[in-house]
Amino acid sequence: MTNYKIKDPTLARHGRLQIEWASAHMPVLNQIKRQFEKEKSLKDKAIGACIHVTKETAVLAETFAAAGADVALCGCNPLSTQDEVAAALAEEGIKVYAWREETTEEYYWCISKVIDQNPQITLDDGADLVSTLHIKRKEMLKDVKGGTEETTTGVMRLRAMEKAGALKYAIIAVNDAYTKYLFDNRYGTGQSTLDGIVRATNILLAGKNFIVAGYGWCGRGLAMRARGMGANVTVTEVNPIRALEAVMDGFHVTSMSKAAETGDIFVTTTGNINVIRREHMQKMKDNAILANSGHFNVEISIPDLKAISVSKRKIRANLEEYKLKDGKKLYLLAEGRLINLAAAEGHPSEVMDMSFANQALSVKYIAEKERMKPKVYKVPKEIDHLVANLKLKAMGIEVDKLTEEQKKYIATWETGTI
Ligand SMILES: NC(=O)c1ccc[n+]([C@@H]2O[C@H](COP(=O)([O-])OP(=O)(O)OC[C@H]3O[C@@H](n4cnc5c(N)ncnc54)[C@H](O)[C@@H]3O)[C@@H](O)[C@H]2O)c1
Repeated sequence: MTNYKIKDPTLARHGRLQIEWASAHMPVLNQIKRQFEKEKSLKDKAIGACIHVTKETAVLAETFAAAGADVALCGCNPLSTQDEVAAALAEEGIKVYAWREETTEEYYWCISKVIDQNPQITLDDGADLVSTLHIKRKEMLKDVKGGTEETTTGVMRLRAMEKAGALKYAIIAVNDAYTKYLFDNRYGTGQSTLDGIVRATNILLAGKNFIVAGYGWCGRGLAMRARGMGANVTVTEVNPIRALEAVMDGFHVTSMSKAAETGDIFVTTTGNINVIRREHMQKMKDNAILANSGHFNVEISIPDLKAISVSKRKIRANLEEYKLKDGKKLYLLAEGRLINLAAAEGHPSEVMDMSFANQALSVKYIAEKERMKPKVYKVPKEIDHLVANLKLKAMGIEVDKLTEEQKKYIATWETGTI
């Protein structure tokens, strides 16, 4: 009996090479892997993971397997699985249920297969695994000791579950570690979103009016990198403080309604629903390009786009043309799914090195600790600092240490103006 369902096992060799390439750029996770392997830190633990199946995720899955864990993995987006990576993992004996272009039904079937493995620790990216466990597979909750969550949207959903009293086990919000969101969400999303747009369209970014919806960690990174490519960047926001920050960072800030009139490329990074909708699409210029880099494909209203269109054509991979009733054409990238994973390869390995070091250490923390109350927890500060220190060391960067005198000085109040 096979313990996997993937697109094509013959892709394994190609996948192995990709994983090796990622691994070579993930020194922190590799160091953790070596230690886990020596200590068998997760011996006989069943880990169920629902996360983008990329070459970097493969290095994380191998870290768990080296620690003695039994790993089952599915994708957290129907369009983001790298089939060659899934094939390589299946060959290594990891239970993987994922392929690119799953239907919604297949997507949830894969999640269900992971739940069938009776996980004691879950690892989620967007909280679809946790919510499926809580809604449809409640009988499997009893053996789950804890879990981790990778992204902003997942943490928001889990906090809502906690608030509603629905959450049945403890979750560590890996997203909220400084060594995750300050780097992955900002520099990872900033670079890989542009990579996805360029791979899908091959358009010139210089001189384009580039609209970023949401000036959170992803939006900040994207706006910064788009400016670096010579685009004229406009930010839209709902939070007045973030809007002000964008203004003072030198970006043009306006409403989506106004931005719609001038934008050439629109990218949503809000984690919210219907941020670009009919009223905006109707104002857009001919040939405007729409993409999303937030977790779910709800930020651009695809139902609205379909409703105002008379025809749709696939121009090339991840690029669809919608012709509106007035003859204008709008282009939707990657079906509105997160562009950096659907049209490119997700974040560069160097950034995932830190995110997944947090994942690995948080999973070990849950495995070793007494069962925690069912709440959403921060990543322990020691883990966050350890990841930062290991990364600096791997980069060959030396930092100063507080002297005893300095430690004392900042801990007392008596010494003022001298
Ligand atoms: N593409 C990726 O690889 C990737 C990586 C990390 C996070 N994410 C996802 O990206 C999304 C954003 O994450 P983040 O960490 O930047 O979140 P964040 O909370 O830091 O930022 C979101 C911003 O969007 C703003 N916003 C909300 N509704 C808006 C609206 N209608 N119009 C304009 N702005 C609005 C909020 O005020 C906030 O400033 C989430 O869905 C997250 O899960 C994607």
